[in-house]
This record gives sequence, structure tokens and C-alpha cells, in this order.
Amino acid sequence: MTYGKAPKPPQSPPGILARKGGEPIVCLTAYTTPIAQLVDSHCDLVLVGDSVGMVLHGLPNTLGVDLDMMVMHGKAVRRGLKSALMVVDLPFGTYEESPEQAFRNATRLMRETGCDAVKLEGGVHMAETIAFLTRRSIPVMAHVGLTPQSVHTIGGYKVQGRGANAHAILRDAQAVSEAGAFAVVIEKVPDILARRITSDIDIPTIGIGASAACDGQILVVDDMLGTFADFRPKFVKRYAQLADDADRAISAYAEDVRSRRFPAAEHVFGDVPASVPDAG
Ligand code: KIV
Repeated sequence: MTYGKAPKPPQSPPGILARKGGEPIVCLTAYTTPIAQLVDSHCDLVLVGDSVGMVLHGLPNTLGVDLDMMVMHGKAVRRGLKSALMVVDLPFGTYEESPEQAFRNATRLMRETGCDAVKLEGGVHMAETIAFLTRRSIPVMAHVGLTPQSVHTIGGYKVQGRGANAHAILRDAQAVSEAGAFAVVIEKVPDILARRITSDIDIPTIGIGASAACDGQILVVDDMLGTFADFRPKFVKRYAQLADDADRAISAYAEDVRSRRFPAAEHVFGDVPASVPDAG
């Protein structure tokens, strides 16, 4: 069975940059080959996010994700993509120390996964690193507002930029734009702030819990598919209820096995041999 839309030309970081103010840029996360195959023709950009740690590995936050995990999931996603731009997250602790550390780890991600770009979290304090990478042929997507790798210093996953730090987030977005990022994720900030940033900076803003005025939108694919029954953040629209479907299916399977309704005649190989020879 073939899913998706007609193939489109491969996307590139300059192509995404050129979409500023144009048709909204469609983005989702993916961590595996089958999901990458499903999202590819619908999305302009696919992010192998470090959210993989929470979504697939049961970690409490993204801090336990390391470069080897990102390489493994990046390779899997690469096998499933034909046209969407593939971005891989630099995980916590692999880029903050120095531009040189960021360059070393970003080149490993690009070389081993075949991704088109990397993403890192941070604004003003990451501008020097973003400039260092982009001047050395590594396209960078930035991430400001709620930056999940800073969960402990921020004190949770609350909305950012509601008070005095609205200006700091605006400055962060301006700094990453001036440093050469080709796009910036804006996470969990008030609508009015995301609109202001989008009209002020020259690169596309990709919103998550931000504003419909952003140049594009991104969601964690498992959130919009409803893989987790009890996780319903305000900024996620659920387009499917996979946890409910899976629960119904698994329960029906268990019933069938217990009552010997499964396997039925059509699931067993009954033609030859006519009789089973005695053992030994
Ligand atoms: O790791 C991730 O999935 C992300 C998106 C939520 C933007 O950073």
C-alpha cells in the first residue's frame, strides 16, 4: 500500500529560509523508518528531536539523550525520507562547551546520519556557536522560548515570555537570526510574542505552542497521533487516538488467544504434511 502525496523535490535549508512569510512550513518529528516514510511526502521538514528520549525510551526528560542515540535514530529516519529536509537535534552536553565541541559533534551527526542540518537550543549565548557552524557549512536550526534541555534552570515546562523575559526571548530570536540560523523553533510562548518575533526577524519561525502567525508549525508526531493516552498538552491538536485503537486491538487479541479464536484456520499452515510423523 502506498501512503502520502505525490513526490515533491528534495527540500534544502536555503529553500526553507526562502519560505519566510510564504506558505506555512509543515514540520513533524520522526524517530523511526516507518514513521519517516509516513510523514515524508506531507512534511517540508522532519526533525529527529531529542524528544526521542521521552517518547521512545521512557526517559523523564531529554537530558539523558546522548549522541549515539541521535545517530541511531537519525540513520533510521534517513532510510525513510525522500524529500523532506532532515534535521537532527544536538543533545544536551554535546555543543554548549565551545563552538569547536559543537562543530565536532555536528559533523559526526551529519556524516553518520546523512542529515541536512542540526538543531540546537539557545539564543544570545549560542549565537557565536551558530555563526561558527554556519561559516563552516553546517546549517543550523535554532530553538528559543521554552528550551527543554534547560528544564532544571527554568524550573519545569511552563510558558515562557509572559513577563519580563519576553524581551530576552525576542533578543534570542534576533541573535540566532543574525548569527546565520536558517530557521528557529519558538516553543511555548504567548501568541503575541511569537507574532512579534515572526514579524521582526528575517528567518522562518517554526511554532510549537506559539502562534498561527509563525512561518511554520511543528509537533511531536506521537503527540498528534495520540500514542500516549494521558498526555494532552494544550498546544497539541490530536489528529488520531492511536493509544485507544491499540488498547482495543491488544485487548481483542488477548481475548482471542484465551478463547482459542486465534489463530483461526486462515492463519495456520494446514495443507502438508497430511500427518505429523512421530518424533524420533
Ligand atoms: O525534541 C523535539 O522534538 C523538539 C521539538 C518539540 C521542537 O525539539
